[in-house]
Amino acid sequence: MTIDPVALIRSRFADAVAKAFPDAADADPMVVASKNPEFGDYQCNAAMGLSKRVGKPPREVAMKILAAVDLSGVAEPLTEKSIAGPGFINVKLLSSALSHAVQQMDTADLGIEKASPETVVVDLMGVNLAKQMHVGHLRSPIIGDAIARTFERLGHTVIRQNHVGDWGLPIAMVTTRLMRLAAENKLDLNTLTLDDLDVAYKAAQAECQRETAALEAIKKSGTHPKLVAEVEAQVTSATEAFLAARQTLVKLQSKDPATYAVWQKIYATTMAVCVEVCQLLNVKVTDADSAGESSYADELAPMVDDLLARGIAEHDQGAVIVRLDAPPMQSGKPAWDAIKEPCLIRKTDGGFLYATTDIAAIRRRVQKFNAHRGLYAIDARQMLHMKQVFASSRKAGYATHPVTDKPVILEHAAFGSVLGEDGRPFKTRSGESVKLSDLISETFERAGNAVKTRNADLPADELAKIGRAVGIAALKYADLSTDRTKDYTFSFDRMLAFEGDTGPYLLYALVRIKNILRKATDQGVGDAWKISQIAVNEYAEKQLALSLLKYPAAMMSVANSCEPHRMCQFLYELAGNYASFYDKCPVLAAPDASTRDARLRLCSLVGRVLEDGLGVLGIPTIERM
Ligand code: ARG
Repeated sequence: MTIDPVALIRSRFADAVAKAFPDAADADPMVVASKNPEFGDYQCNAAMGLSKRVGKPPREVAMKILAAVDLSGVAEPLTEKSIAGPGFINVKLLSSALSHAVQQMDTADLGIEKASPETVVVDLMGVNLAKQMHVGHLRSPIIGDAIARTFERLGHTVIRQNHVGDWGLPIAMVTTRLMRLAAENKLDLNTLTLDDLDVAYKAAQAECQRETAALEAIKKSGTHPKLVAEVEAQVTSATEAFLAARQTLVKLQSKDPATYAVWQKIYATTMAVCVEVCQLLNVKVTDADSAGESSYADELAPMVDDLLARGIAEHDQGAVIVRLDAPPMQSGKPAWDAIKEPCLIRKTDGGFLYATTDIAAIRRRVQKFNAHRGLYAIDARQMLHMKQVFASSRKAGYATHPVTDKPVILEHAAFGSVLGEDGRPFKTRSGESVKLSDLISETFERAGNAVKTRNADLPADELAKIGRAVGIAALKYADLSTDRTKDYTFSFDRMLAFEGDTGPYLLYALVRIKNILRKATDQGVGDAWKISQIAVNEYAEKQLALSLLKYPAAMMSVANSCEPHRMCQFLYELAGNYASFYDKCPVLAAPDASTRDARLRLCSLVGRVLEDGLGVLGIPTIERM
């Protein structure tokens, strides 16, 4: 049974529309929460749309709906005055219905019904070997983990996949360089840090970079022969380095022990930092969630051959491509939106690409893991790549669920960039990219200081714990509360503010509720309030109750849109309504015991919803701050 009054009222209006206009029985009753509580709690906006369909003025349509609708037990009876403007029908919930609904929500599940379970694969993180993690790696784990937690909360099976960039020529380049330096005794492979690797990665790139174009230009312009010789030497040595890297790649592919051992060191060093960052951020990604590109390496050649054999892919000037410009029709509509750029899956030199691996990943996720959904928390700049990969997989038949035979939902939960306060990509003052672990520790430190100024006598260990929680809340909430497709500006001051739409504000709202409940116990108020009758009488109580009831719908909408900011909006509204309630409706000093108990129960429910909602955002809560 739904606790959601919108759903209840919607179904009553749907019946009314069907009764009043049998020819338009399928029309959406368009019931929404009112923007302005003065007019009512909900409104039915169906009359305007129906008016065209049935050829009657909207007010007349509204009158007919009004005559047909049965809101008994749910809302106050409607009168002609309930119709506003051209034909909006305003509905006021019965306060008994409201109390009842809130009371029904007060269960372990907080009104969230478990859906029939699906398997959902969430692609998040996607770090690259031998590269330092920087602010550009912040959003994918935060957004991906929030989406994953939402699906888990709804009862689905979630498989997180860290699609590590651990394969290919660039990795072979850095492996080659490290092996050489180690052989020359210039490097100890046992004490490698990710910073060392980052330096080696860039150096390896540079040493393989052939200045061929420059050489041609210099030769043509007839410059000094000494310069020509210098550039020629560069090209020769870069060519050697490049060829050496290709050999390393072949050795890696055949798991040559010495080469593979070095690669494993690079892997372990990178992943240690990655997992540490996830732990710091309270992101549920462990080593076990890693499925690197290397894990698909052996599948690519046979897959491409199979795609060629089935006519899904074709040869094109020595390369292999999948054309995506003419999607077939599938249940009345194109199987994907036509894409004019074909997806390149094998280069002329026989090498495979980022897209080839991602197609193989979809195949594994669907055929092996039985995924009903594949969700990707990846930078918006990879939009075309994702579209091509999704469409190619559909064309190949890899995106059809093996049991239900239905198309697998594939969604790119794309996000924008993190900007500095100057509106440019976030950098340190000296213009370098900010190391992610530094950024996180600075946030925790600043959060700790902010807590300390408010509460000077917290013991050091508790301060550290609270600082971390406030820091995580600040960092994650700032990221999650904006529409993910937009860029957002990173500002310590803004995200750490205790007032306004911030993580610390929400944590604080929760802590205040916990304080009241603690105080109640301290004052000897028994536990009876837990089963007291919730009553919704005051305006502020009503607003709070109405906002509580939106929780299940908010959770569903985050899942369906992969937009965690909808949960943030819900929580911020709830906290705001709680603050007004707290202002207007004394709890422990309520006029009588039954009002006090009803309010305590309401407080506790709000607290649990806040805690649960913050939980799906991946924000841990605290007892005091
Ligand atoms: N390693 C990739 C990059 O840095 C991100 C991987 C995202 N996941 C994926 N399945 N493509 O761009």
